[in-house]
Amino acid sequence: TSMSVQSLAIFWCKDKHLRVMKKFCFIMTTLLIAATAAVAQKTIRVSTDNTDLIMQVNNNGRLYMVYLGDKLLNASDADRLDWTIDTGSDASVSKRGHEAYMCSGGEDFFEPALGLTHADGNKTTYLYYKDSQTKAVDGGNETVITLADNKYDVEVRLHYVAYTKQNVIKAWSEITNKEKGDISLWKYASAILYFSSQKYFLTNYHGDWAREAQPAVQQLTYGKKVIDTKLGTRAAMHTQPFFELGLDAPAAENSGRVMLGTIAWTGNFRCIFEVDNVGGLRVIPGINPYASDYKLKPGKTFVTPEFIFTLSNQGTGLASRNLHDWARQYQLKDGTGDRMTLLNNWESTAFDFNQESLAALMKDAKNLGVDMFLLDDGWFANKYPRNDDKAGLGDWEPNHFKLPGGVKALTEAADEAGVKFGIWIEPEMVNPKSELFEKHPDWVIMQPGREPYYYRNQLVLDLANPKVQDYVFSVVDNILKENPGVAYFKWDCNSPITNIYSPYLRQNQGNLYVDYVRGLYNVLHRIAAKYPHVPMMLCSGGGARCDYEALKYFTEFWCSDNTDPFERIYIQWSMSKFFPVKAMASHVTEWNKNTSMKFRLDVASMCKLGFDIDMASLSQTDYKLCQQAVANYDRLKPVILDGDMFKLVSPYEGNHAAVNYVTKDKKSAVVFAYDLHPRYKEPVLNLKLQGLDPTLTYNVNEINLADGQEGLSGSFTGDYLMKIGLPLFSPVDGSSRVLELTAM
Ligand code: GLA
Repeated sequence: TSMSVQSLAIFWCKDKHLRVMKKFCFIMTTLLIAATAAVAQKTIRVSTDNTDLIMQVNNNGRLYMVYLGDKLLNASDADRLDWTIDTGSDASVSKRGHEAYMCSGGEDFFEPALGLTHADGNKTTYLYYKDSQTKAVDGGNETVITLADNKYDVEVRLHYVAYTKQNVIKAWSEITNKEKGDISLWKYASAILYFSSQKYFLTNYHGDWAREAQPAVQQLTYGKKVIDTKLGTRAAMHTQPFFELGLDAPAAENSGRVMLGTIAWTGNFRCIFEVDNVGGLRVIPGINPYASDYKLKPGKTFVTPEFIFTLSNQGTGLASRNLHDWARQYQLKDGTGDRMTLLNNWESTAFDFNQESLAALMKDAKNLGVDMFLLDDGWFANKYPRNDDKAGLGDWEPNHFKLPGGVKALTEAADEAGVKFGIWIEPEMVNPKSELFEKHPDWVIMQPGREPYYYRNQLVLDLANPKVQDYVFSVVDNILKENPGVAYFKWDCNSPITNIYSPYLRQNQGNLYVDYVRGLYNVLHRIAAKYPHVPMMLCSGGGARCDYEALKYFTEFWCSDNTDPFERIYIQWSMSKFFPVKAMASHVTEWNKNTSMKFRLDVASMCKLGFDIDMASLSQTDYKLCQQAVANYDRLKPVILDGDMFKLVSPYEGNHAAVNYVTKDKKSAVVFAYDLHPRYKEPVLNLKLQGLDPTLTYNVNEINLADGQEGLSGSFTGDYLMKIGLPLFSPVDGSSRVLELTAM
């Protein structure tokens, strides 16, 4: 703009043919340029109620992030921010700032967000500001900033959606190839965020089958820490797509400056944390570009996944509650709706069942009091029947021998029993022993001319191929067309992508990992469009798929096959930092039978309750306890699933654990308290509650008690419960207590 002011002025002077005037004008406009050079050309502010993310377009025409932190009170302060950072370099070195979408080849020598090879082979990109718009969206506002290279026809749009009340920001980018030939993308992060603190502490979550979401805390020092996955489909088996960042101190529950972040991508993701030469931290989340140089054709746009984050200066507890509120309102499928309790048959029958035995289980479900019976693996395939995990995946026809009446007979039996009927599928996969594989070997991700490597005896279908997408869609579509009574799906995914080669993509193998996930989203999108109200659980050999893009299509996910209640407490503790418990399925099973039924019930009741146990094998007392717990859960769902969650005692910090949930109006609450493995004569302290109204008096009633067991009851003020607390812990291994609080 300053250049155009100058030329306009000169033009005006010429027109007048006044030499003196012309000289005067020149001096004035030069002064004007000098003045504008020192300040930002434009400030762009992305704000929630508590956080500001401020960017500036500077006199070099490029976009810099100048602030990320607590919201500034005075708008004018935002304009005073200086885009340059003190690098300690001598004056002859050009100034450098935190570029909002830093590209490879520029003057910042750290990890870029974007790296691409232009059609002519050049690998350098410079992005200049073009324009920006902010518009209101559901729950907040969306800012879209367009940047473009001044030498190459590549355009980038940065998206920031700020959810005002929940203090959550989503950031992603779009990269458009307007060049004449293909470009190749080799780095394509969703965003970069810059932090400047004395110290940084990262909590990342690692895991494996039946050992999901184990936290590991470390201080970040100079250099890089990367959390990433290359598993493709069962992507989060060894590392989860979420993290906590503690600024100045390790992230704590109730104090300190923290960020919670998560990348919404159901495939290979990567988050880079890099501390640069001046001690600044860069957080660079996105798809993992590993083996994925992505060929982008002219006219095409590459959309990166949403990176979702929230900042808190009162620890992770508040940050989690904000994420939960946001997810329920704006991201999770049917986030404000109800959830069905269920009885699943996997743990009790595995592949061994038939129409009659299932009908009996449906009656058990009804007796138990749950809403639904969920039929698991093993109901399909005829030429190669699914009697174990070695055959049948891909052939989604009911097995005539086990189920002569097909799915229809099952939905009828469920109707008769008075429960809903749900069904397990794993539609992205195929066993080589299947008719599907025999008919369409070219639909399978497989190495030509090499011995395949099998994971759980199966292979992954090539969802980059639109024909395969149609097929996977038809699995759900056919079941629902033929059996409108099917009320729920459990969608499993047990294998990572192995034997990596897409017969469909041929020369473009670099696009496989990304196009696979996009293919999956296409299918899920079509299902959601045609059947918007069918709830689905996402499962991946336990909890290896747990991300917020998938949760646009799934009402809940399976956190782990590990339902040992001791272990589950830890897994649920970690997962519920990022996801509302409404989205987290938890079942009562026979894992660790040594624990009491009460302990198992209480642990599962903290999330979305289900059962996966042979009800007929239970003692009278346990059976009654289960019925009672289901009835209690039905009553308390609004508190547990839609209330605020307060993590009171961490299982990671001692031998006990506790949480409480409180409704938004603070009139109802539920407390769960557990003794894990207390030490002999360990001092037992009162449990202090959180989030109650100190001025209210609550009726406190212990529930989920076995027959004849006396529980705690009485009335206490919220103030007492929060400042003095109740003696809920005991020195007994594996004991638990649940309290229901109702304001008087
Ligand atoms: C996976 C799931 C289980 C069950 C089996 C069926 O392991 O995590 O819950 O559905 O598959 O084969």
